[in-house]
Amino acid sequence: MEQKQNMNFKIILLISVFSILLVSCSVDPEIREIGNSGNNNQQISFTFPTGFPVPVYSFQNNEVNITRFLLGKRLFKDPIFSRDNTISCESCHLQAASFAHLNHDLSHGIDDQLGLRNAPVLVNLAWMPNMMWDGGVNHIEVQPFAPITNPVEMDETLENVIYKLNNHPEYPQLFQEAYGISTITTQLMARALVQFLGNLISADSKYDRVVRLQDGTQFTAGEQRGFIFFNANCQNCHTPPLFTNNGFANNGLYLNYQDEGRKHITSLNEDLALFKIPTLRNIEVSFPYMHNGKMTSLNAVVEHYRSGIKNHINLHPSLKRNNQPGVPMTDAEKEDLIAFLRTLTDRNFLTNPLFR
Ligand code: HEC
Ligand code: HEC
Repeated sequence: MEQKQNMNFKIILLISVFSILLVSCSVDPEIREIGNSGNNNQQISFTFPTGFPVPVYSFQNNEVNITRFLLGKRLFKDPIFSRDNTISCESCHLQAASFAHLNHDLSHGIDDQLGLRNAPVLVNLAWMPNMMWDGGVNHIEVQPFAPITNPVEMDETLENVIYKLNNHPEYPQLFQEAYGISTITTQLMARALVQFLGNLISADSKYDRVVRLQDGTQFTAGEQRGFIFFNANCQNCHTPPLFTNNGFANNGLYLNYQDEGRKHITSLNEDLALFKIPTLRNIEVSFPYMHNGKMTSLNAVVEHYRSGIKNHINLHPSLKRNNQPGVPMTDAEKEDLIAFLRTLTDRNFLTNPLFR
């Protein structure tokens, strides 16, 4: 079943590549233009989209170039990081799902073990001060160590990964070409991965084109109404242009949580059951939703906000009306809101050949 879906995605990907080639001239970040050639002689630089704030990771000590980026991409796709060389980062973070784990509620790792949480999308990470659903990682160069050493994800030691990389027939040479150093350390490995991770920039959705007044792109009437509803009820947490305010909140999924969320990191009671506010970019393709992947459709998510919110002690006050949990909306408003959420899909990102 899953394989069949993957096949379909591949076909869609192929078709989309041709359409991107046709429209590439009008596409925004520099990166995309390079992406369409797939040619090593091309230049690449970290350029951030108009309207985005200053990034938290600016590649100051890790200047971007195409050799480093391609090395990072190769590492991302290489199962060398897992104990039995079967699981790569890509196994759980697929481009077609905006680098989330397509169709899995909890991510499957080594020996097909289930993780505790749903794999989030990987977009605009250079702007993200806290990673993981509980914010347990606060630097992108440290992030890859978590899945590598997690016993249900890749279950490998850093020591052994470094050993495997240094004794690999090609990696020492590739690091030499990229960084002028052939002895691979954990820091160098992390920096190379970040060349790929940090350049997964998504800012070319219909929404972006509308706000940039690009090519006369306009919302439909329903999307426009959904946008207004979103601004009134959702944007305080899912704040444009990143569609997250980078904070933590409880959005009322349960009265009793199995996972204590942010409290796991801070030990504070007021952080019990708070989770990182996720970006909504590419939300249409990154199902299932929420930290535990328990919701499979946008319809279910929006219905949750309308009628499913539980009055948890730490429920965020902006998700109550007259002290009652829930965001009231008519059926028509619900439909418009979903239509707006779909405008956050960035097809060029999902099919960018540079990431493949
Ligand atoms: C077995 C599946 C799995 C594998 C393999 C995996 N990840 Fe993840 N990834 C996850 C899950 C699940 C989370 C969320 C974990 C949490 O919040 O506790 C995550 C979170 C992340 C995040 C943070 C995103 C955010 O918004 O907070 C980054 C970045 C990331 N992974 C990169 C990687 C890299 C790089 C690799 C390879 C070295 C990798 N992942 C391998 C499942 C996986
Ligand atoms: C008080 C802050 C807050 C507000 C307001 C809010 N959300 Fe959320 N949203 C969250 C948090 C936190 C999560 C993740 C919760 C979890 O997994 O435990 C989330 C998750 C989501 C997800 C799933 C994302 C994913 O990748 O799994 C969607 C979709 C979503 N919200 C849409 C909306 C919409 C639409 C509205 C307005 C009706 C809204 N949110 C209002 C905080 C908020």
